Amino acid sequence: MAKRIAVLTSGGDAPGMNAAIRSVVRCGLSRGWVTYGVYSGFKGLISGTIEQLTTRDVGGVIQRGGTLLGSARCEEFKTVDGRELALRNLNQKGIEALVVIGGNGSQTGSYELNKMGFPVVGIASTIDNDLVGSDITIGVDTALNIALEAIDRLKVTASSHQRAFIIEVMGRKCGYIALMSGIAGGAEAITLPEVKTDPEELAVTLRAAYEHGKSHALIVAAEGAEYNAAKLTEYFYANKERLGFSIRSTILGHVQRGGTPSAYDRILASKFGLGAVEAIEREEYGVLVGIKGNQVLTTPLEEIAGKTKQLDPAVIQLAKTLD
Ligand code: F6P
Repeated sequence: MAKRIAVLTSGGDAPGMNAAIRSVVRCGLSRGWVTYGVYSGFKGLISGTIEQLTTRDVGGVIQRGGTLLGSARCEEFKTVDGRELALRNLNQKGIEALVVIGGNGSQTGSYELNKMGFPVVGIASTIDNDLVGSDITIGVDTALNIALEAIDRLKVTASSHQRAFIIEVMGRKCGYIALMSGIAGGAEAITLPEVKTDPEELAVTLRAAYEHGKSHALIVAAEGAEYNAAKLTEYFYANKERLGFSIRSTILGHVQRGGTPSAYDRILASKFGLGAVEAIEREEYGVLVGIKGNQVLTTPLEEIAGKTKQLDPAVIQLAKTLD
């Protein structure tokens, strides 16, 4: 039977979100469904900024970063009153199911809305890769490659000046980008929210690298680590006489979110869009579409909301072995 579905993007934007919107809209249209776009995430659900999307509305967007629907972090949606306003707008338009493309906080919102009786399907999308329910999320591959390109460039200038660079990458409470970009970039050390750092040990590592005649040293710091760029810089400046290297620090910040989506992210997002439409077809609601191994699958939002995916201890160990 023809359905009326809506799609929104929420939380931090992630490269590949447009490919996911496009896929939801076109897979829905191919089934004869009517598809709506909600602008500015849950905020647009509350204000009723909802418009029908045609196949042309999502044309020429697959290669664009960001999100054509806009995104927001919405405090009001955390309240029952806010969600009731959203429900009223969805019902007024006769929308039967909602697809939420977003990360951890957004899928907690999906879970709350679904608990109020509205059919919701989430799509795993965040550069942080912290969502339980998916090995990898939309945007991670692109963000990681942006971080890596920056690390490679900083290594070049570090080597010219025999400097040590602290490079801070995003990830909120999750050290995935730091760990993976640190390994791929050949960092001398990595700081993570998941692992306690002894700054004295790092100072000894830097000194040893200097004495071995290394032309550079790189420390990749996760923004959520106790020793992020600011704390490490403070510590190293207080100890600068004995480090050998002089120190510089770079925070990559939102640069990591603004990239052109990689092929991997475009394909992953397209598969997740189809996965969401198929879940709606089966009337399987209150779930997140993600990937495990090579299989696109769903996980109940109940098992996801409020949780943070753990890093693989074997990969953490590998990073320590390689530095
Ligand atoms: O969740 C994605 C993310 O980029 C995190 O890595 C980062 O901590 C946060 O969003 C930044 O949020 P905002 O864009 O709201 O400043």
